[in-house]
Amino acid sequence: MHILVSGGLGYIGSHTCLVLLEAGHTISIVDNLINSKIETLEKLRIISTSDFQFYQCDILDYEHLETIVHEGNVDGIIHFAGLKSVGESVSNPLEYYRVNLNTTINLTRLAVKYKIPRFVFSSSATVYGSAKSPLVESQKLLPTTNPYGETKAMCEKILNDASQANPNLGVTLLRYFNPIGAHESGLIGENPNGTPNNLMPYITQVAKGKLEKLKIFGNDYPTNDGTGVRDFIHVMDLAKGHVAAIEKQKSGVQVYNLGTGKGTSVLEIIKTFERVNNLEIPYEFIERRNGDIAEVYANVLKVGKELGWKTERNIEDMCRDAWRFENQNSQYEEEKFSELWK
Ligand code: NAD
Ligand code: UFG
Repeated sequence: MHILVSGGLGYIGSHTCLVLLEAGHTISIVDNLINSKIETLEKLRIISTSDFQFYQCDILDYEHLETIVHEGNVDGIIHFAGLKSVGESVSNPLEYYRVNLNTTINLTRLAVKYKIPRFVFSSSATVYGSAKSPLVESQKLLPTTNPYGETKAMCEKILNDASQANPNLGVTLLRYFNPIGAHESGLIGENPNGTPNNLMPYITQVAKGKLEKLKIFGNDYPTNDGTGVRDFIHVMDLAKGHVAAIEKQKSGVQVYNLGTGKGTSVLEIIKTFERVNNLEIPYEFIERRNGDIAEVYANVLKVGKELGWKTERNIEDMCRDAWRFENQNSQYEEEKFSELWK
């Protein structure tokens, strides 16, 4: 199949591109580089022996996007592009609604116009709001606590309505839990701009000495050790979930959780990271972060049964791979910096 991957140079998109190519699909990546670097393109070309197309295009630009879809002979779309910072969505909600809704509308309009039968969308466990885990796809969605989460719930609704009105449009909504880790080459991984908001990139930057110590948000949650519990999933397992979803796309709308089904606490992650990488992570406890809940983990029975997908990597793999990427990427950036000053 020929798959158009929106946001394919981002963290999850870049890993998914590699798995799509490995599975024998051809791809066109569309990205405007607002939250990714052009070096990721070079790195994908180093890792993969298969060729692919890249278009630097803003998905908000419908006319430009249409020329790409028109010439592409596209069999399916995987839509990752969007803005994803929860905190930023609170301070700049209009930009989050503008980008996340309009990118989804533009791609969906083109899927309908060009009769593209497969559409996979990056949703999030955040649509379950503060519901009690394990979270099941069929449960009623609760309001989320931030505009980012609202955009995910709204995009799900837009795609549901579009598929109902256009029965040829098959849609899969993938609700991700907490993706961490990196490709085993250490070449691509999560590389946020500025100080990381998420746990794993913060840990790797503390380990590297870029940040002084990790601040753990709360140690008084009703969990085993008082720290928050999340369903951390290796980004390569998550990537494989997309390939299973697009290959097995049916008509109508399917919804799947992509997680491991198992919760791990913040302290357990730190201890595992220290053990497998043989180093220490200085940390301190501070007050709870606004909007956080004690436990979030998935029920993954449906995705296992219907897509035959399950995770293959454990927390140790996630910690090892995240650290390998941090090291290699820091070295890469230092070399690039010294090249510039030559
Ligand atoms: P990312 O920011 O690394 O990747 C998104 C990519 O989309 C970037 O390369 C960015 O440059 C591109 N992009 C953004 N707006 C664009 C536009 N208008 N036109 C073209 N390209 C554009 O994010 P990610 O972590 O890879 O997440 C991918 C998707 O998964 C997002 O929709 C995100 O909301 C969702 N998601 C992520 C997580 C997570 O923890 N990372 C969890 C749940 C859901
Ligand atoms: N945490 C810390 N210190 C930090 C960062 C995080 O203690 O510096 C804790 C949080 O309090 C939480 C856990 O680590 O208990 C995980 O936090 P993350 O910020 O890494 O992830 P979240 O669970 O808050 O949210 C992530 C994505 C959302 C997505 C959600 C899906 O950021 O976009 O997973 O479950 F919606």
